[in-house]
Amino acid sequence: MLSKKMVDRINEQINREMYSAYLYLAMAARMQEAGYKGVGKWMMVQYHEEMFHAMKFYAYLQDQGAAVELKAIAKPEFKETTIKELFQHALEHEKGVSGSIREIAALAREEKDYATEGLAQWYVAEQVEEERNATEILQTIDLVGNSAQGLYLLNVELGKRDLGVASDFTKL
Ligand code: FEO
Repeated sequence: MLSKKMVDRINEQINREMYSAYLYLAMAARMQEAGYKGVGKWMMVQYHEEMFHAMKFYAYLQDQGAAVELKAIAKPEFKETTIKELFQHALEHEKGVSGSIREIAALAREEKDYATEGLAQWYVAEQVEEERNATEILQTIDLVGNSAQGLYLLNVELGKRDLGVASDFTKL
């Protein structure tokens, strides 16, 4: 059985993951509108991944017999327009999410809540991957510089990302 503090904290994390999904969805829209379909696809796949993160916590609360409390999702705010700026924003956002996950892991340890601590470890590892993905893309963007050909190839490369779930809703 989970403590009330833990249930509240996990419900808060569901909201943060859904905000993450919303943020990447908004970024996908900006990139698709700008003609960077591949970058938009990458962002759309990330949207799905964030929803998966939210739903994994959702399912966990239900497995533990705890109530899921959905909260309002904030409007995603970003002023950035270039691909590099968007990935810098994404990286900073992911660092914040990593801190939020560490808080859950620390609370679980404090409460000797080993089930949640085990689940939190999955997210800790996932956040390493999330930060690495954004960092590697930023490194590639720096290598490409202002080369139009390089940006074209990067757009094609990022468009290959696939989660095995629908990301092109025009084909449903
Ligand atoms: Fe769900 Fe990108 O962290």
